[in-house]
Amino acid sequence: MSNQSLCRVCGGTVREFFDFGRQPLSDAFLPPGADLGEEFFYRLATGLCESCTMVQLMEEVPRERMFHQEYPYHSSGSAYMRGHFEELAKRLLTTELAGDDPFVVEVGCNDGVMIKALAEAGVRHLGVEPSGGVADLAAAKGIRVRKSFFEESTAREILAADGPADVIYAANTLCHIPYIGSVLSGVSALLAPTGVFVFEDPYLSDIVEQTSFDQIYDEHFFFFTVRSVQAMAAGHGLELVDVERLPVHGGEVRYTLAHAGARPPSPAVAELLAEEDARRLGELDTLRRFGENVLSIRDDLTALLRRLRAEGKRVVAYGATAKSATVTNLCGIGPDLVEFVCDTTPAKQGRLTPGTHIPVVPPEEFSRSYPDYALLFAWNHAAEIMAKEQAFTDSGGQWILYVPSVRTV
Ligand code: SAH
Ligand code: TYD
Ligand code: ZN
Repeated sequence: MSNQSLCRVCGGTVREFFDFGRQPLSDAFLPPGADLGEEFFYRLATGLCESCTMVQLMEEVPRERMFHQEYPYHSSGSAYMRGHFEELAKRLLTTELAGDDPFVVEVGCNDGVMIKALAEAGVRHLGVEPSGGVADLAAAKGIRVRKSFFEESTAREILAADGPADVIYAANTLCHIPYIGSVLSGVSALLAPTGVFVFEDPYLSDIVEQTSFDQIYDEHFFFFTVRSVQAMAAGHGLELVDVERLPVHGGEVRYTLAHAGARPPSPAVAELLAEEDARRLGELDTLRRFGENVLSIRDDLTALLRRLRAEGKRVVAYGATAKSATVTNLCGIGPDLVEFVCDTTPAKQGRLTPGTHIPVVPPEEFSRSYPDYALLFAWNHAAEIMAKEQAFTDSGGQWILYVPSVRTV
């Protein structure tokens, strides 16, 4: 165990600021009859690069262990997220993709939630998606999909076959890729001289501000800021030219990169950078304080769940999110404290949550007989879920939330 590693962006020294301990893979839901003794664990810990300020995991999980035929996350599972991506597709069609025969590449297109609208509009496109099952779902929607990991060699092959891309887009994917240098070299090669690379991922500032520590798990390797993205871009002849804060997934930023000098940066870049500096986001002390807040939430949440059990209340959980693996494994929340987790994803139902082995059941189990409390693991979809489950609160049920602090509503 080492509390220092080498930055995957700049090669600088990464200093650890929080250790979540032994964790299972967040999307490795166990099928019935699985050998529980065979579960894969790794050490989840986060650090700050003292040179470029990129926050990153201290250890990398081999990509094939996470992204494969059975990868269970389906992006189209949220109506709100479908709307979010359709809105972006519409905007791209009238701006970046309005020229003659434009070409768009999406990295990590999953089941096609975003690129579907562009394909339907007749835009020349390619989705790159290594997880076979979700890639098949996208292909079934008429999307042209390449089943592979995007990296420099992939980008060069796409360039040779299809020519330069006017837009390269990645949502909740770039932060998943430890070999990010290869990806950016690929982007730099594939991107047309006036093209843009647009990506959106959870924003470190929101994570620290809200103590949303469950954004930290095996698949989320990097936690971007304006400062760290600028440093990363500069290393590949690219430049950060725009940023936009997004309300999705608990707070994200959409970054736009272009070839250096190709576009003037918008004032939003300098504004958000100044905000980050004022918050001392690039400093170890700030991140260590975040770690202390994580431990307070852990203590409050376990105390609440134990008290409710002692009082004989029925508690279940809602949303078998990847994020919840960090919560349940850090807090030691198993089937003794939470009866089941309900989730709409067929690929997760009938399985057990990684590490903590709570049964995952369809939402019908939830409405069949409402519990006293529901621990909302999918808190980032709170508005959508609470509206849909109004009958639960009408029955006297209460939601348990833990971001930014533990409370019932
Ligand atoms: N864009 C979707 C999916 C996010 S999940 C959304 O925002 O909802 C992350 C996706 O990235 C997974 O489908 C995973 O298979 C894919 N992925 C992981 N590494 C990748 C890589 N190197 N190239 C392309 N896709 C990758
Ligand atoms: P999400 O929070 O989007 O991501 P992650 O797994 O990366 O943390 O996952 C949402 C999960 O919640 C997903 O498994 C689907 C489930 N879900 C429901 O069960 N019902 C709903 O209404 C919504 C919106 C999501
Ligand atoms: Zn660095």
